[in-house]
Amino acid sequence: MPHAVYTFPPGFLWGTATASHQVEGGNTNNNWYAWENQENKILENHHAGDACGWWNGRWKEDFDRAADGGQNAHRLSIEWSRVQPAPDRWDEQALDHYREFLRGLVHRGITPMVSLHHFTDPLWLTEMGGWENDQAPVYFEKFVRKTVEAIREYVHSWITINEPNVYVYGGYLGGGFPPGKNDLKAAFQVLANMLRGHAAAYHTIHVQQPDALVGVAPNYRSMAPARSFFALDRLVARQLSASYNDAFPRAMLDGQLRFAFRSQNIPEAVGTQDFIGVNYYTRDLVEFVPNPGALFSRRYFPPKAELSETGFLANVPQGFFEALRWASQFGKPIYVTENGVEDSSDSLRPRYLLEHLHQLWHALNYNWDIRGYFHWTLVDNFEWERGWTQRFGLWELNTETQQRTPRPSAQLYAEICKGGAITPDLVNQYAPQSFSKLYPV
Ligand code: BGC
Repeated sequence: MPHAVYTFPPGFLWGTATASHQVEGGNTNNNWYAWENQENKILENHHAGDACGWWNGRWKEDFDRAADGGQNAHRLSIEWSRVQPAPDRWDEQALDHYREFLRGLVHRGITPMVSLHHFTDPLWLTEMGGWENDQAPVYFEKFVRKTVEAIREYVHSWITINEPNVYVYGGYLGGGFPPGKNDLKAAFQVLANMLRGHAAAYHTIHVQQPDALVGVAPNYRSMAPARSFFALDRLVARQLSASYNDAFPRAMLDGQLRFAFRSQNIPEAVGTQDFIGVNYYTRDLVEFVPNPGALFSRRYFPPKAELSETGFLANVPQGFFEALRWASQFGKPIYVTENGVEDSSDSLRPRYLLEHLHQLWHALNYNWDIRGYFHWTLVDNFEWERGWTQRFGLWELNTETQQRTPRPSAQLYAEICKGGAITPDLVNQYAPQSFSKLYPV
């Protein structure tokens, strides 16, 4: 029986996403470096160390890998602590280095998308209280202005801040990120200042580049009521999702930041997204528990879902469709700015990739304006508080030798990028277990 070919639109962006601290190596002037040098902050006390060696030139071979694999876009981030090593000092050589990276992409036919903040802060900012300090948005705007001036020749799509929600939950609500606080008031303050910083950056970029596309890349985590018939489960799932998923993006619609029963008006945020980024990985089920300390909720992965290697993610492609439907409410172009799974043996990744892209294809059929997909990630990289214990790369990295080895998914993704389609042959070859899901009889 003939089977459908799931075809993606011409001009669709196919890429991978990375972040400075996770790939560059040698970043010693930011809050994560300081965090990694404290005992027991990172699993197995790992350090980013040389990471993927990009700063010392290995970006070239990895950009070749991306280009050979048919990728026509790449999302990377600029390390604030390199560009502005002290509040009153710019490092022009660092900016030159980034210009070289970006030229390297453009020369390979790869369109860059640049994030201006991806979790790391310069140490000098941390010493001033980080984003709790009301001056942080002012400093951020200056850094953005300087950086955009230096690299705008190569870049039209900008992400001001990656996952403000993860930054806040990770660092200020007990999630294992620096500064390791658990303080709702501080969390709200940080989120509000990030929103101000984003708004200032948005306006600054548009002054320098009126036709720029500027957005944010929030993490969207699907939160479904564990017992959909039970009103209290529905209520807590909705509330958690509103704080985690909606607070920041909705404030860009109406200027009102509502987070964990607090609210603040930030009028300059209104209308500051030209596109919506979606970082989607997984879904939680949420159940009501009569425990105010736990904010009346308990979260867990859907019991039947396959879990990733270390149990960090569950493979729930329907949650991705939900994320895209959620993104479509903003009436702006959508980019999937991250999606992927940790899997050193590549036993789940081919299925995860195909099943998620199938949902993306499904979403495109609703005529939602989805313009690109960035897989997380190209080569194994430093996974924050989980160190090197999780492997998200299409390519495996040996951190001792810096040698890269392609996983089967590297070839699978290359075939998808080059053909712009999912075919029954690809599914049969790389993920036969997914065949009945993608081609139900
Ligand atoms: C972050 C990435 C991270 C990925 C996988 C996202 O939350 O933006 O930096 O590596 O998840 O853990």
